[in-house]
Formats: sequence, C-alpha cells, structure tokens
Amino acid sequence: MAESITITDNRNGQSLEIPLENGGVSASDFSKLLPGVWFYDPGLTATAACESAVTFLDGDAGILRYRGYPIEQLAEDSTFLEVAYLLLNGELPTTTEYEVWEQEVTLHTFIHENVRKRFLEGFHYDAHPMGMLVSAVAALSTFYLDAKDIFDPESRDKQIIRLIAKMPTLAAAAHRFSVGMPFVYPDNSLPFTSNFLSMMWKIAEPRFEADPVLARALDVLFILHADHEQNCSTTAMRVVGSSHADPYSCCAAACAALYGPRHGGANEAVIRMLTEIGSLDNVPSFVEAVKQGHGRLQGFGHRVYKSYDPRAKIIKRTADEVFSITGKNPLLDIALKLEEIALKDEYFISRRLYPNVDFYSGLIYQAMGFPLEMFPVLFAIPRTAGWLAHWQELLDQDTKIARPRQLYIGPEPRDYVPIDQRRS
Ligand code: CMC
Repeated sequence: MAESITITDNRNGQSLEIPLENGGVSASDFSKLLPGVWFYDPGLTATAACESAVTFLDGDAGILRYRGYPIEQLAEDSTFLEVAYLLLNGELPTTTEYEVWEQEVTLHTFIHENVRKRFLEGFHYDAHPMGMLVSAVAALSTFYLDAKDIFDPESRDKQIIRLIAKMPTLAAAAHRFSVGMPFVYPDNSLPFTSNFLSMMWKIAEPRFEADPVLARALDVLFILHADHEQNCSTTAMRVVGSSHADPYSCCAAACAALYGPRHGGANEAVIRMLTEIGSLDNVPSFVEAVKQGHGRLQGFGHRVYKSYDPRAKIIKRTADEVFSITGKNPLLDIALKLEEIALKDEYFISRRLYPNVDFYSGLIYQAMGFPLEMFPVLFAIPRTAGWLAHWQELLDQDTKIARPRQLYIGPEPRDYVPIDQRRS
C-alpha cells in the first residue's frame, strides 16, 4: 500500500491496515476492527462526512476554488448567475447554455401571490427578515408538490431554478414588509442582481436603474458567498437532504443554520461591534478586553482558514469601489485600526486569527443602504446555489441518511417513581 495507517486493538492484538485516500481514512474500515467504538468529534472538526467535487478549500494556504476555478478569477471575470451554473453543473456554460439558464431563472422570479399575502404579510410588523425568509422558503414546498419527486431529473432541475430565482424576490419582500413599504414585483428586463436591487429600493419611478458599480459590487459579493464547502448551513442542507426531504424544506433548514451569529449573522455582529467601539481611541482597550475573554472579535477567525481569508482580500477592494460611489462608511477607519492592531498582536497571531469574509462585507452592505437585519438574508441569496449543488451531489451519490452516534453520559437505568413519592 502506498499510503496507509495501521491500527492495533490492544485488547486482542488484532491489526488492520487502512489506506489513506485523499488525506483521510474510511471510518467504516475502522468500524470493522472496533465495532461499537465511536469516534468522539463534537463540531465534526476531524470528520469528513462526505466526498464532494464542488469546492476546494485550503485553510492554511488561503485557497478557495469552485469546481477548480480560483475564487479570485471568478470574482474578477464572472457573474453570480454564471457561478451558480458552474457550481450546479460542474462546468462553465457555453453561450447558448448560459442564455437558456439566465432565461429560465428570469422566468421564475415571481412568487405565488399567496406566499406574499398569506405568509409574508402574516408576520408581526417588526419580524426579522431572516426569520421571514426561513419560513417563506419552507412554505414554498406546499406550493410545489412535485418537489417531492427528488429523483426525477426534470422536477429536480425545476425546483433548483425556482429556488435560485425566487430567493431575491422573497428577500426583498421580507425587507419591504419590515419597513412598511409595498411589495415590488420583479422586473424581468433587468439582470439578476439589478432586479433584486429594484425590488429592494424602487419607490414610484417607472423603472429602477441601479448604479452599475453597486450592482457589480453586489454581484461580486454574491460570487464570494456562493459556496464554502461543508460549512454549518451546507451541512444542515446535507443532513436534511439525506432524509430525502424536498429541496425547499432542506433549504429552509440551511437558512435557519445561516441565521446564527457564528455563521451568517457574523457581519451584522461586526457592525454592532464597530458601532459599540465608536472611535479610534477605544480600539486598543476593546482588543484588550477581547483578549481577557470578554467577547470575541467579530469577523475574525475561522474554523478552516488559518491564514487570511481569500474572500476578505477581494472584499477589501470591492469596498473601495463601493465607497467611491456611496461615500466612506464612517466605521471603516475603526475596522482598519482593529485589523492593524489584531494582526500584530500575539494573541491573534498564535491562534492564527485573521479577518474573515464578514469583517468587511457588512461595511459594504451598510454603505449601500441595507439595514443590519438584511445581512444574513443577503448571504442566503447566493448561498442557495451552493446548498443546491451539494444537495444534488448528495442525491446522485445515493448516500446514507445522516445519523451520527453519541457517547451517552446520562443516568444509569432506574425505575419510574409515582409523582406522590418523588422528593420535592
Ligand atoms: N476573537 C477572539 N478570540 C477568538 C476568536 C475571535 N473572533 N475566534 C476564536 N478565538 C479564540 C478562542 O477563544 C480560542 O482561544 P483559546 O484556545 O484560548 O480557548 C481559539 O481562538 C480557538 O477558537 P475556537 O472557538 O475553538 O475556534 P472555532 O474554529 O471553533 O471557531 C469561529 C471558529 C468562526 C466560530 C470563531 O473564530 C468565531 O467565533 N469568530 C467570530 C465570529 C465570526 O466572525 N464568524 C464568521 C465565520 S466566517 C463566515 C461563515 O462561515 O459563516
């Protein structure tokens, strides 16, 4: 065997040689030797739960590639819709393939009127748009009953197109409702990202023309957020997908996972942190407090990246372009100072904590006028493409249902005690 490890069970002296494949070993081989012995790995930090051909990530080297293409090249030369096609199909589209894809997505941007009237407008006036999105995506499964035919290729493709197309419409609708503005229907003469901006910001003008620099910047942010291999929400998508639930229910689960401040909610947390810091003078004491264990530097650190997040580098450039149109976000100087201090500090150096994608994305969204509550929603729009690429891959691989083991730490067996005999 070229590369392998040998494990020996010292209880009975049995040994097993297991091949190393793609840097890992198969747990099923281990299990043959050690039946009933489970690998304790909370947070799955050392467990590969799937084989995937979608995204390559080297956290030490700061490399991110979708289907082999470097993120830097895609951010420079591609569009979000083209990247979504790439993630889902494995190859960049030809001109004809792209035209068909773009047209199909465009034709599916409208949502059923009852999704808006019965679901979105049924929320409380101050509902968080991400909570609305999670629920609305789940509700879509009740409108498309054919979504249950997950092994019918035609049905599967249709749901994928519907989800990618309707996500911006639902996202904008959630925002409009939360600020008491009327719903804006999609303008299908506009490209994907400009159409979303029109649904967000249009007031009384016959046609909303987004600033091309801002529309392109948002498209770049969509590219950067489209996939990130086995992150928390993608894992949620895969786990629910492994039970063969319909793709809307799977996506709702993924959206819910994205909602949390450790994942898609981090860029919102960054803005709140920068606002709390308030001035350049307060930056050193804030960093000191973090080092003493009072909270975390939001937008810093990553489970996989142990060097500069390549997406953060691209975002920094995008920020300059956006600020040239919108004016500089006043929190930018605090962010730059924070980064400068943290990158020189032993605490952050020794733990290999660098700015991640969320450190600067929130500043851009805020400068573009998006309220903080919309930040995770803006993440969900492009990540839908990644979630669906993984969902498709999982179904094609005919994987087992996700069902991890546990190490039981509860009480020993005991007999039921009638209520009048229990100690108070
Ligand atoms: N500020 C201060 N200390 C930190 C931070 C931070 N942002 N992140 C990690 N640490 C410390 C942590 O206290 C621990 O120190 P010690 O070894 O002394 O106990 C050490 O670094 C390792 O931390 P960990 O919690 O074991 O690392 P993890 O891989 O489980 O967590 C993380 C990764 C992203 C949840 C974490 O770095 C974090 O909470 N960052 C802030 C939130 C954030 O920016 N999240 C966005 C992630 S990128 C976008 C996305 O994927 O959604």
